[in-house]
Amino acid sequence: MDFSASRQSYEKDELIEQNTPNTPYPLFDQWIKDALAEKVKEPYAMSVATCGADNRPSVRTVLMREVVERGDEVFLVFYTNYDSDKGQDLAQNPHAECLFFWADMERQVRISGAVQKLDEELSDTYFASRPIDSQLAAWVSRPQSGVVDSREVMEGDFVNYQTQFGTHVPRPEFWGGYLLIADKIEFWQGRANRMHDRIVYKKENEKWVRERILP
Ligand SMILES: Cc1cc2nc3c(=O)[nH]c(=O)nc-3n(C[C@H](O)[C@H](O)[C@H](O)COP(=O)(O)O)c2cc1C
Repeated sequence: MDFSASRQSYEKDELIEQNTPNTPYPLFDQWIKDALAEKVKEPYAMSVATCGADNRPSVRTVLMREVVERGDEVFLVFYTNYDSDKGQDLAQNPHAECLFFWADMERQVRISGAVQKLDEELSDTYFASRPIDSQLAAWVSRPQSGVVDSREVMEGDFVNYQTQFGTHVPRPEFWGGYLLIADKIEFWQGRANRMHDRIVYKKENEKWVRERILP
């Protein structure tokens, strides 16, 4: 396959400093709302890049479950298995970068920062809100990213946990939320002739600083 002749011109919108807020959250909020209005499928799905002690970056998609602004802080919340590859990376190096790409909007957002485990009570509340089959699947996926002999083994485990727990499935201690505390957020708006707009917000002395960077 050779895509070297495939070219799109991005002409849907622009991102000009004068029209951007002083802090990143309102712009992110607006872009998510725009993506929902455009019926982008799961615009809150994001790639999360981590890098553990082996110095090999790895990336996968997860669902952002919440984005919160508190004072000048912006937090992203996602849930996963703490023993997974990403969980092990984060235990060794608690930093990550999250990436949203909304092709229909010709937009990309990169959010990086330090990561910490979410309070257990918040993980409990979220776990309890999930459909019971998802709760059971969290128990089956132990450890997530570990090798399993077959699909049948997974399905057998699912039924065993169903029998064990009945209607109340507790949150496994190896499953819960992470909080990414943003210290850099970049908004990318595709423009014609590869003259794209890139506006980056960086935390400096606890305050957001806004800069345009070259495409
Ligand atoms: C659209 C989509 C959403 C996903 N959401 C999650 C999620 O919220 N949490 C999660 O642990 N894995 C999620 N996954 C699965 C991950 O991409 C990945 O396979 C899994 O977390 C194991 O990653 P790891 O081995 O790098 O730890 C999702 C995958 C896709 C394609």
